[in-house]
Amino acid sequence: MTTNQTSNLKELLAKDENYLANALYRVFHVVAERGEGPYIYTTDGVKLLDLTCGIGVTQLGHCHPEVTKAAKDQIDKLMHISCVTHHTENIKLAEKLANILPGDINNTFFCNSGAEAVDGAIKLSRYANPGRPNIVSFRGAFHGRTLGSTAISSSKVLHRKNYDPLLTGVNLVDYPNCYSCPVFKDPASCNLECMDLLTRMFKLNLPPESISAIIIEPISGEGGYIPSPPNALNSRFNYLMELRKICDQYGILLIADEVQSGIARTGKWFGIDNYGVVPDVITMAKGLGSGLPIGAFSSKKKFMSLMPPGSHGSTFGGNPVACAVGSKTLEIMERDNILDYVSKTGTELMKHLSTELKSKAKVRGFGFMIGMDLGTKDIADKVIAECFKENILVLSAGADSNVIRLIPPLNIDKKLLFDATDKIIGIIKKA
Ligand SMILES: Cc1ncc(COP(=O)(O)O)c(C=O)c1O
Repeated sequence: MTTNQTSNLKELLAKDENYLANALYRVFHVVAERGEGPYIYTTDGVKLLDLTCGIGVTQLGHCHPEVTKAAKDQIDKLMHISCVTHHTENIKLAEKLANILPGDINNTFFCNSGAEAVDGAIKLSRYANPGRPNIVSFRGAFHGRTLGSTAISSSKVLHRKNYDPLLTGVNLVDYPNCYSCPVFKDPASCNLECMDLLTRMFKLNLPPESISAIIIEPISGEGGYIPSPPNALNSRFNYLMELRKICDQYGILLIADEVQSGIARTGKWFGIDNYGVVPDVITMAKGLGSGLPIGAFSSKKKFMSLMPPGSHGSTFGGNPVACAVGSKTLEIMERDNILDYVSKTGTELMKHLSTELKSKAKVRGFGFMIGMDLGTKDIADKVIAECFKENILVLSAGADSNVIRLIPPLNIDKKLLFDATDKIIGIIKKA
């Protein structure tokens, strides 16, 4: 780094501090200027391998040329129309989604972010189940930063502090976390006792007929990259399937929050596809727009039709450019067999990590949504800092920030991925 570059960085960071809101947290104090494939380039001319994908967003790498072309073409045609007329691009993307969504989920509302998608899904549950004021969500979950999605989140207390009163009627239950069992069972002798935590609430304080929706991340994201069972530790029980039965029994809407686990991240279109369960509603965002802001909630037409025109809306939601990019992203994924590549390579990578790291880390995940629990935040922070020195970006997750997550682009070259992983393994072994 030359002296000029250093002073340029200092100047930019000083302006950043002056003009940008303090609430916005940044992990690495460098300034990104350009992205290409798996790399980002800083204003200092440093090339960084991005294994964060901007928190699980740039599924096809940064600025995929076909994706940027789709954006540019659409910008030249129509950038915005809102709800003033119908338009070609949200129709096209909604049809594409209907083809990849599980079961008979075939109807979509477009918004701008994951949190908005979650808020919309909650509103839908109020229409589907009028007069039912309660929602169940899972301790450790993260669903976003709007007041509605904050109310059902519990992954970090800082996300809620000073924001009460939030949405009422939110009931938390422990996540089925086999890696730190909420009911202190051993995976070998477990009988899915964690499900009793929910059914006991039904007996003691929460009539199931008062619940409009249960919202769950099939694979907990910000909570620590924890797949619900069955997972590597427990292959006997399918928590989501049991949850599905409970929802059916009481007419509760099952919402799968797929904002982080959706759009091929786990080697299936949606994380819940790994469990063979069809929810009532799916929320998505992140990977759908390759970096342009877009979110969506999708459900069966019979539920979505309960919300009359005007009962929900968004000026920018379903923006033509974001939708054109969404369609192109899905088209490339299909054409390039991304699901297969992610599923196979992810399994191989996790095996490699587990073998190499043995007692150093608990490795878990699906596809390219891989978590490595290193035990403490101190160790995880050290690993992130050492990776950064090697020009590799990785992030942490979990209430204690003790999990390193690997979220590489889904089309990353296999050798590049394994070479970087070997560097990370070496760093973890030393940490
Ligand atoms: C599972 C889940 N839901 C919702 C959100 C919120 O998404 P957004 O930041 O786009 O509002 C996130 C973001 O990390 C998430 O991981």
